[in-house]
Amino acid sequence: MEVIILPTSKEIGALAADSIEALVRNKPNAVIGLATGSSPLPIYDELARRHDEGLSFEGVSGFALDEYVGLPVGHYESYREVIRREFTNRVDVTAENVHGPDGASDDIAGACLAYEAAIVAAGGIDLQILGVGTNGHIGFNEPGSSLASRTRIKTLAEQTRQDNARFFDNIDQVPHHVVTQGLGTIMDARHVVLVAFGAGKAEAVRDFVEGPVTASCPASVLQFHPRATIIIDEAAASKLAGADTYRHAFNNKPHWQGV
Ligand code: F6R
Repeated sequence: MEVIILPTSKEIGALAADSIEALVRNKPNAVIGLATGSSPLPIYDELARRHDEGLSFEGVSGFALDEYVGLPVGHYESYREVIRREFTNRVDVTAENVHGPDGASDDIAGACLAYEAAIVAAGGIDLQILGVGTNGHIGFNEPGSSLASRTRIKTLAEQTRQDNARFFDNIDQVPHHVVTQGLGTIMDARHVVLVAFGAGKAEAVRDFVEGPVTASCPASVLQFHPRATIIIDEAAASKLAGADTYRHAFNNKPHWQGV
């Protein structure tokens, strides 16, 4: 796990975008895992800017991390729509290459199996963008999720519904259920890039970076990932005992190593 602490969300977005740009230039048909919520927005803004300067995503495929269950197809806050609005409509990704778990299916279990199969058929996820919940969730794998879980339906923790109420008119509109890639699905990605901002994430960051690997803090499973890059601001890093060590390691990396 590499922990990188940077001053601003713009710099964090740019560093994550560097990884994605390098991947896409090296592998034009790369498969990218797409998170929603506030955290990835600086990455999407930066990728859209680079697209305006000529970076193409034409051959790229995208797989959303998760989706609400119970929102009508096309709902403004459905994650399929959010990803379209915040990222894929701003670049030249082919619409058919953008996939999301089907939270509106009559057969949720079957749709989850099909989603796992579609990821495999695309060649697996090369780079998975992640945020982290205040309770340590990644995707919508809430505390208690199996560390080996695959795409499936989950019930949102009340904390998560409260955190996400800001996207809706009121908390009653936040669905109780979601379909999410599992922790096992996320762990299969070849590279994961998690970004986090603000003091509200400091405890979750401390727990998953420096605490024990435990289903009680689902993001802690990333300690087992061979290539996990954690890019956070000073506020999110404020409870890390090893912050100086992480800064030292980043500032003294061999220049050829990348993230
Ligand atoms: C979103 C997702 C969630 C969010 C997390 C943080 O697709 O899977 O894990 O990344 O809830 O949300 P924000 O970034 O809004 O703080």
